[in-house]
Amino acid sequence: MSLPPGFLEELRNRSSLSQVVGRKVTWEQKKTNISKGDYWAPCPFHSEKTASFHVDDKKGFYYCFGCHEKGDAISFIRNSENVSFIEAVEILAREAGMTMPARDPKAQEKIDINKELANIMESAVQFYKMQFNGSNAKSAKDYIKSRGLSGDTINIFEIGFAPNDRTSLSQFLLNKGIPEDKIIDAGLAIKPDDGGNIFDRFRGRIMFPIRNTQGRCIAFGGRAMDPNARAKYLNSNETALFDKGRSLYNHGLAREASGKANSLIVAEGYMDVIALSQFGFKHAVAPLGTAITENQLALIWRIHHEPIIALDGDTAGLRAALRLIDLALPLLETGKSLRFCILPTGQDPDDILKEKGAAYMQELLENAVPMVNLLWQRETEGKDFDSPERRALLDKSLRTAVMKIRDKSIRHHYGQAIKELRYKLFAPINNGLNPLNKSRSLGYSQVWGKKPKLMASANTKSSMLAIQSDETNWRLRESLILASAIKNQSAALKNESALERCPITTPDLVEIMNAILINLHIKKTDAGMSDSFEENIQNSLGYSPIDKLMKLKPLKKHPYLKNNTDPDLIQQTLEEELAKHVALIGAQNEIKEAEQDLTGLVDEGLTWRLQQAAMAKTKATRAIEEEDSETDENSLEMSKNLQNMLDNQIWVKKTR
Ligand code: UTP
Ligand code: MN
Repeated sequence: MSLPPGFLEELRNRSSLSQVVGRKVTWEQKKTNISKGDYWAPCPFHSEKTASFHVDDKKGFYYCFGCHEKGDAISFIRNSENVSFIEAVEILAREAGMTMPARDPKAQEKIDINKELANIMESAVQFYKMQFNGSNAKSAKDYIKSRGLSGDTINIFEIGFAPNDRTSLSQFLLNKGIPEDKIIDAGLAIKPDDGGNIFDRFRGRIMFPIRNTQGRCIAFGGRAMDPNARAKYLNSNETALFDKGRSLYNHGLAREASGKANSLIVAEGYMDVIALSQFGFKHAVAPLGTAITENQLALIWRIHHEPIIALDGDTAGLRAALRLIDLALPLLETGKSLRFCILPTGQDPDDILKEKGAAYMQELLENAVPMVNLLWQRETEGKDFDSPERRALLDKSLRTAVMKIRDKSIRHHYGQAIKELRYKLFAPINNGLNPLNKSRSLGYSQVWGKKPKLMASANTKSSMLAIQSDETNWRLRESLILASAIKNQSAALKNESALERCPITTPDLVEIMNAILINLHIKKTDAGMSDSFEENIQNSLGYSPIDKLMKLKPLKKHPYLKNNTDPDLIQQTLEEELAKHVALIGAQNEIKEAEQDLTGLVDEGLTWRLQQAAMAKTKATRAIEEEDSETDENSLEMSKNLQNMLDNQIWVKKTR
């Protein structure tokens, strides 16, 4: 339809954007300045708690500083109501009291046909519902009851029944004066090729109406009750109303509910969506008997920026999820991602809700993992990477996958995330594998985590790289070195050159090391100097280094430092920590260098170097501990505890 010149301009002038938007959002009072036409609200296009959605009412323009959605009143209606441009104009014109120009006849005809088909579909919905409540539907009703659906749920989803009869629906519709060919066009009946009488498409099935976001019934899904039926589900054929790949089951209701729930669940089947809804998860949709299409993904993302894909816990479900990755990768952009909730083997959401309840389902949903984990699992599961060739192959497949991402920033972050997973796979320390054995792929629990909640957040933190570079761990060891040096001057003297070469990475500890070195050769008899090494250092610094260093809990509790007990034990601690520190710094530098070489993904040689560096680190710490075991139980324990703290970051978490 062509609009007369100036129509849109007039429409924009007459419409108030703040009014149009105001129906969908709650303005943030503090930020909003009505007199200036400045309105702020949480964005209706992505989920957020803060108000980054801005409406400039005078200009008739909106912009979200979070997801960057922008546009005018027409685009707002298009996007929020999911309607076409011309439908949005119609809606707006109606509100503004403007008469729409007549549509061109062809388009009008199409709209009329669709309206007619929609009316026929509506009659069918009513017919099937009536049948469901009639005497012929006892087995259907029993079946639905046995599946645990409540009366409310049956009403909400308008569950019906198609009698096991060749023509009951067709007859009903014909009696209403609806022509045969329209019944066929609506997909409700079939005309045999041999020219015989039409017969109903759905017979002896439980009927699920499928509605679009405007509430029109566009198709049906029909479930057989007979387990031996030819097809468990029969769906409407594609019609003028029904484009399978562009529709979603429960689209309208889920879209409404998703705002409040700040989430969207994508399940596999009708029954999953229905069960989810009955258990309070009203924000669930499903594709319609096919794999999720690009168009469906676009619809899903329009509802929520990070939908949770909850596919059945069987091979088909996993395969569907893996296919979805390939579909989604090129489409990822800022504010559009997926999470995956792979359910326990052999179960779908419906089973889980019934067996374990809503709280358990909620937990599973909360533990859904990012897509990158699933991608990783796909590329590594069940494979050995015990040769450079195999590792190279892994790199290649990962690189191919990541290169599919068009969005540069997201591609970069995928590269990073994969690097971390890779490191975990090949690093000998963290995964408990013997470095000399062949590496295995990370098992299910390592990708998904036993408690996926931890896994998800640990993602960015758990790599060895992250742990090693953690500032507090370095501070801890460096403090231990400095404190033992201060507490035992003669030990410090013996290790002078080691101390000189010992790099202090914690900036505020550098001056303590300098003060130690400066005061190291001052003898008790030197004029004007205290006879205490510690006091001399304190005087050069202007504060007590021991007070500062001993603030760290593990040092405060350190058996030798605390009581100044045995100078030999302090010396031992000093030497031990010095050796460890130098070795770790070396390994760290190696890792850093390797990391700096990383552009995009790691190559095989790099993996090898990272692994070597990590092994060197293990060796450095282990060798010292092994020696310990003969000398002193206590010191071994301390050393082990310290190492544990360093490795596990427990200490860091507690003190932060
Ligand atoms: P499911 O077999 O998981 O169905 O197929 P369901 O919805 O969970 O139903 P119940 O719990 O077994 O009763 C998932 C979806 O695949 C499509 C349907 O859309 C179904 O909801 N499907 C399945 C078909 O289109 N045809 C079939 O024969 C089977
Ligand atoms: Mn199922």
